[in-house]
Amino acid sequence: SSDPLVIFTPSGKRGRFPKGTPVLTAARQLGVDLDSVCGGRGICSKCQVSPGYGNFSKHGVTVEPDALSEWNAVEARYDEKRGLKEGRRLGCQATVQGDVVIDVPPESQVHKQVVRKRAEAREIVLNPSVKLFYVEVTEPDMHEPSGDLERLRKALSEQWELEKVTADLHILQMMQPVLRKGAWKVTVAVHLGDQENAARIMNIWPGYYEGTVYGLAVDLGSTTIAAHLCDLQTGEVVASSGVMNPQIRFGEDLMSRVSYSMMNPKGADEMTRAVREGMNGLFSQIATEGNVDKNLIVDAVFVCNPVMHHLLLGIDPFELGQAPFALATSGAMRLRADDLDLNIHPSARVYMLPCIAGHVGADAAAVALSEAPEKSEDLMLVVDVGTNAEILLGNREKVLACSSPTGPAFEGAQISSGQRAAPGAIERVEIDPETKVARFKVIGCDIWSDDEGFEEAVASTGITGICGSGIIEMVAEMRIHGIVDAPGLIGTAEQTGSPSVFADGRTNSYLVYDGTDKGGPKITVTNRDIREIQMAKAALYSGARLLMDKFGVDKVDRVVLAGAFGAHISPRHAMVLGMIPDAPLDKVTSAGNAAGTGARIALLNTEARAEIEATVKAIHKVETAVEPRFQEHFVNASAIPNAVEPFPILNS
Ligand code: FES
Repeated sequence: SSDPLVIFTPSGKRGRFPKGTPVLTAARQLGVDLDSVCGGRGICSKCQVSPGYGNFSKHGVTVEPDALSEWNAVEARYDEKRGLKEGRRLGCQATVQGDVVIDVPPESQVHKQVVRKRAEAREIVLNPSVKLFYVEVTEPDMHEPSGDLERLRKALSEQWELEKVTADLHILQMMQPVLRKGAWKVTVAVHLGDQENAARIMNIWPGYYEGTVYGLAVDLGSTTIAAHLCDLQTGEVVASSGVMNPQIRFGEDLMSRVSYSMMNPKGADEMTRAVREGMNGLFSQIATEGNVDKNLIVDAVFVCNPVMHHLLLGIDPFELGQAPFALATSGAMRLRADDLDLNIHPSARVYMLPCIAGHVGADAAAVALSEAPEKSEDLMLVVDVGTNAEILLGNREKVLACSSPTGPAFEGAQISSGQRAAPGAIERVEIDPETKVARFKVIGCDIWSDDEGFEEAVASTGITGICGSGIIEMVAEMRIHGIVDAPGLIGTAEQTGSPSVFADGRTNSYLVYDGTDKGGPKITVTNRDIREIQMAKAALYSGARLLMDKFGVDKVDRVVLAGAFGAHISPRHAMVLGMIPDAPLDKVTSAGNAAGTGARIALLNTEARAEIEATVKAIHKVETAVEPRFQEHFVNASAIPNAVEPFPILNS
């Protein structure tokens, strides 16, 4: 009779194997993704499988109760010590005895899928740069003298097919006692190498190491630095944290930092030191939060705009301050933590995503990695809104990119009652169509300003100002209810029929909230504020429109709003304002911090790095500053929603 048939699920891979073949061996031969750190020695339990019994008509097999060997001593001991889940077997111990269907649970897959909250987003498949390997090393022998490292390398080659693995001096300094303590059985963390670097031992533990290793995905923004600490074996985020970028003291926005470096001979160095110190503070904080030894952080991925990119690397951003905005390098960077004075594992790897252009940085590349416009059937417009808006437009055919100088108005700066998004800031607004009076919601408080109990509910935060999403909704609501006209002028109280409008010098203003009787602020929208928002939104819209011209289209299928700010914008209000082109409202979605997600993808999957490097090379860069059409679009887009562009979908 023929050999037993082994079918693996969910992959569906199948093959016949002689009786007595370990399940792990069958999986290996069929290319089934089944994990193992100990190489089949019954120590790591990463190889757990769930055999199914009974009739599998779908697969045309019946699995008898004795299709796998009985528990052996190794499995029994493992179960006694650690406990095997009901129905689970160790794939390296159980052997095939008859036809069998074997399920590989997600946690036993090396390339497991990491869950993302958004269904439409790209999948993250785990394939980290550093993996753990348990090896048994030959003991030294007086008759055949060789170094401990040489024997360790030989073991890695023979037991794991890892060739030419190198080790830093600090590994050599700790290796000998570890080998002896583990009785020549050790676990090593190996960085598998990349196109520029050979595989390298990052750490070594006696015996089987139960723990894991970690990586950092860092989004280095001009205002804040945010990081996710990820377990490289599960892909899980174990801690997330953020700090203000300490470079703020050299200038609020990027251009003022570039000019700081122009004015001060040591300016760039000072800023490099500041950002690295800030980063190290953040890393200490996040390691404490995640209860992780910083020495176990062996990989890090950075995304940032070009100026931050240069300042982190210690490159003077001078050239980025003037046309033609030449980057020192646009390519991806592969460095070591100690190149950047980072206080994680000293030979931890650092990967920086490529920059797209002098104005469109690695952060935009990370957004592209997260949202994958180059894989989309639909024509996607991806907008990352900040003081600069990075804009991507594309589909499978091609992808275009540009950046547009929106200025800080969307972050609440240069707005009379504006503030950053923080508890106490007005973030949602509605104007009553009858009374023309505004009601609002404040960050940190769940109910509307005209709901019962609002006074008590808002007591802890107070009402302090209006943030970017609040001002966008405010201006859009004012336009909807005829308080502001298309050119952007606030009418009088009489013209608009709103008791909230009051004469304010030569123009009119709108009173959103008056807290002066309680010692609070008076929150108003002035005509100047409207003007600031018009400029910012016109810049954004014109950038998008310019890319549409270049693409040869006059509408897009889908709009994705990226960035922390993007997550808070109401699509309808953004469209009423004419910030983004007309599109079906249900096709306007928020991607949250897509740059941060892109960093996480590149951290967890090394293939994604090669992928984004190729994508970035293929992206067509459009420089808004030299395009006459940009000015033309800008003038038209200053009107609300626009002087010439119709918004048929919005109005239907
Ligand atoms: Fe490690 Fe089976 S492979 S326990």
